[in-house]
Amino acid sequence: MDLKRSLVKELLNSKEFEKEVLVKGWVRTRRGNKNIQFIALNDGSIVNSIQIVVDLSTIPEESLKLVTTGSCIQAIGKLTESKGQGQNVEILAKKIDIFGTADSETYPLQKKGHTLEFLREIAHLRPRTNTFGCILRLRHAASFAIHKYFNDHGFYYMHTPIITTSDAEGAGAMFRVTTLDLDKLPRNTEGKIEFAEDFFGKETSLTVSGQLEGELGAMALGAIYTFGPTFRAENSNTPRHLAEFWMIEPEMAFYEIKDNMDLAEDFLKYLIKYVLENCKDDLDFLNNMYDKELTERLKFVIDNEFVRLKYTEGVDILMKSGQKFEFPVKWGVDLQAEHERYLVEKHFKKPVILTDYPKEIKAFYMKQNDDGKTVRAMDVLFPKIGEIIGGSQREEDLEKLNKRITELNLPLKDLWWYIDTRRFGSAPHSGFGLGFERFMLFISGMSNIRDVIPFPRTPKNAEF
Ligand code: 4AD
Ligand code: MG
Repeated sequence: MDLKRSLVKELLNSKEFEKEVLVKGWVRTRRGNKNIQFIALNDGSIVNSIQIVVDLSTIPEESLKLVTTGSCIQAIGKLTESKGQGQNVEILAKKIDIFGTADSETYPLQKKGHTLEFLREIAHLRPRTNTFGCILRLRHAASFAIHKYFNDHGFYYMHTPIITTSDAEGAGAMFRVTTLDLDKLPRNTEGKIEFAEDFFGKETSLTVSGQLEGELGAMALGAIYTFGPTFRAENSNTPRHLAEFWMIEPEMAFYEIKDNMDLAEDFLKYLIKYVLENCKDDLDFLNNMYDKELTERLKFVIDNEFVRLKYTEGVDILMKSGQKFEFPVKWGVDLQAEHERYLVEKHFKKPVILTDYPKEIKAFYMKQNDDGKTVRAMDVLFPKIGEIIGGSQREEDLEKLNKRITELNLPLKDLWWYIDTRRFGSAPHSGFGLGFERFMLFISGMSNIRDVIPFPRTPKNAEF
């Protein structure tokens, strides 16, 4: 009978000594002497590699010549209890075959200890490093937990469009989608581009948020969530901004702002707990390599209630803090990461949910408070990150919504379908958006958002 391939993860936890096993993977290192050689093999199933012991009296050294760092091999051998330190099992090799070689002169990951900056330049190979193996497994586990949480809580996964005609956040930072010939743009008599001739017959862009369409779903299914790519053409070269990122957006009928906050807090705690329970090896590795307080910080967030306070109170605290900020604070300004982090890390030393922001700095769809100045917005602020979630209760009143859209000079006629939900069976409803990579920054302990997504898209950077 053919021997079935075992995963390194299974073998490292196995006690079936003396059993013959087959492993396939990529060589991390090979070392040893004239009598015995040790190959560290990694197959991506776990951060640790398995040690393959080669007795050179059974397998000639000549045949190992091409077994170099980066090459891909398979090994058949006996699983044995390891005498070496730091591992419980190893494989005594009987046969080794090479799938693909990796020239030791040119393979870029020949040595350990490359900088994260260098690894960004070889994004096609960095999944082969321990660090990015951990990141990719964590991304998977967190994605799975997100779907599980919503499924278990009666939410439906809704697929909202990627190509859209509306600027949901009204920030105007959108990437155009067009098939027009850029060298020969059709123009009308006034010199304006004739989008009627474009693929969709109108101006289209990549979505900045699935929320507006998500609301349509919530007003029919009760509770939905989206989890998809979002695109923002803002020229923000910061460790927290990507031009292409993934966002999770739940939207719930009959939820008021308090229900929305409760959901956001419960959801975040669930996700963090999930990775703590299911990704111990990866978290331990990142904790040791990058952030010695990582697991402690994760546990701290689970164990503490988030502070809830109004924007106005937050601004008061910041103004009285005596702290010198790069961007000065006063009522009405949009908070910067430095302000958010001051509240979270220095003042409260806990995650904070800030609500009731000035309407001028928030999107048109947020529910207007009776004071005429603020809207029922909520931002969840996290240690090391700042804003991790942005959300709000939505304006469900047709007249107020129309008035706000007009005040802001937004294209009322393009939003007719959104406004229709307020004409037909409107209801209080709320939702929020969690930036997946901001969340990944938090759970991985990495400090640059470019290092938590396989292929980062940032200004002047879309190589892979
Ligand atoms: O606060 P934002 O802009 O909110 C919305 O888009 C709403 N439509 C969400 C909703 O209510 N359904 O974005 C939500 C989150 C932010 O809190 C942040 O975590 C993340 O998305 N985010 C980014 N992440 C990476 N790079 C960027 N350029 C980001 N912009 C926002
Ligand atoms: Mg926001």
